Amino acid sequence: HRYVAIMAGGIGSRFWPMSRTGLPKQFLDILGLGKTLIQQTFERYARLVPAENIFVITSAEYVHKVQEQLPDIPVENILAEPSRKNTAPCIAYIGFKLLQKDPQAVMIAAPADNLILDTDAFVKVAEKALDFVTHINALVTIGIKPTNPNTGYGYIQHDAPEAAPGIYKVKTFTEKPNLELAKTFVASGDFLWNAGIFTWKVKNLVDAFEKSLPEMHEVFHAEMDNFNTPNEKAAIERIYPQCTNISIDFGIMEKADNVYVVPADFAWSDLGTWNSAWDNMEKDYFQNAVIGDHVMIVDAKNNMVHMPHNKLVLLQGMEDYIVVDTKDVLLICKKEKEQEIKEYVAEVRRNK
Ligand code: GDD
Ligand code: MG
Repeated sequence: HRYVAIMAGGIGSRFWPMSRTGLPKQFLDILGLGKTLIQQTFERYARLVPAENIFVITSAEYVHKVQEQLPDIPVENILAEPSRKNTAPCIAYIGFKLLQKDPQAVMIAAPADNLILDTDAFVKVAEKALDFVTHINALVTIGIKPTNPNTGYGYIQHDAPEAAPGIYKVKTFTEKPNLELAKTFVASGDFLWNAGIFTWKVKNLVDAFEKSLPEMHEVFHAEMDNFNTPNEKAAIERIYPQCTNISIDFGIMEKADNVYVVPADFAWSDLGTWNSAWDNMEKDYFQNAVIGDHVMIVDAKNNMVHMPHNKLVLLQGMEDYIVVDTKDVLLICKKEKEQEIKEYVAEVRRNK
């Protein structure tokens, strides 16, 4: 009864220009580890459930990429979304599909962009969450000790007493707070980051949709008999245009009153932005992280430099910059503005 759903339909726009709509970050080996992010994610979850129970939900245009990179997953487990509607519809799709097939199903919804190197420690935490939701009506997430007031994450505050060994009831869940609020959260020492890895019984998930996103629940519910039949694709094509574009965090997790957290004891990173890549890379004495063999650095520090091409580059005097060169785009951006890269990309598209 255990399933895993890898969410892989994002476009990774804060990783622009390396991550592009045509080939987003989950299909790239950003840190040069020899495997793409989605391949690393698949291997981690293959330790928990057989490959037949692993699903990937992605945009129709990336289905062939997933097939190519994850040949062990049955093709019918690669679910195509007709449009990008963020993670709430994506999770509703797999939730209703599994409910139709197996009413006792328990699942993990996992992002394709996490970097977790200690797989053994991860597997223990995931097993704990899976056991817990088997017995209790709970939406469980994994919590990470924050190191800085990152505004790209969800922040979780939990009760002191344990609900089960190593599991706590969540008091507040705040998705992507502003910087001021994020600073208060981190300073209080009372908050964890949401790792974005969720565990629940699918029937409890569907109940949460009914409570917090009733219109979306209604639309999926009305088509449920078509799931796992030849009519599924047509049903999804009718459903998606009716769904609002919203993340599971804003749509469900902030509102539900049965959220629990397992604080993680493994190193975790969301490879969401260039700073997170910088955090996880080897750096020179002046804290420059450099990809590329032809980069000369003079009096520069704390930069994230990605210059993989055969071009000699000299960087002088720069501090705290992201410099990323690709075939057709060169980005030079202050590190502190990295969350805005998303908006710059939208602007570039509008002006095209
Ligand atoms: N199928 C599908 N469809 N997948 C999607 C879609 C979509 O429309 N949008 C995003 N995804 C996938 C992304 O590819 C990624 O693997 C995952 O869902 C999470 O989306 P992100 O866009 O990366 O979310 P985020 O990083 O801004 O925020 C989430 O993760 C943080 C930790 O990494 C939230 O859960 C935060 O609360 C959390 O702290
Ligand atoms: Mg992310």
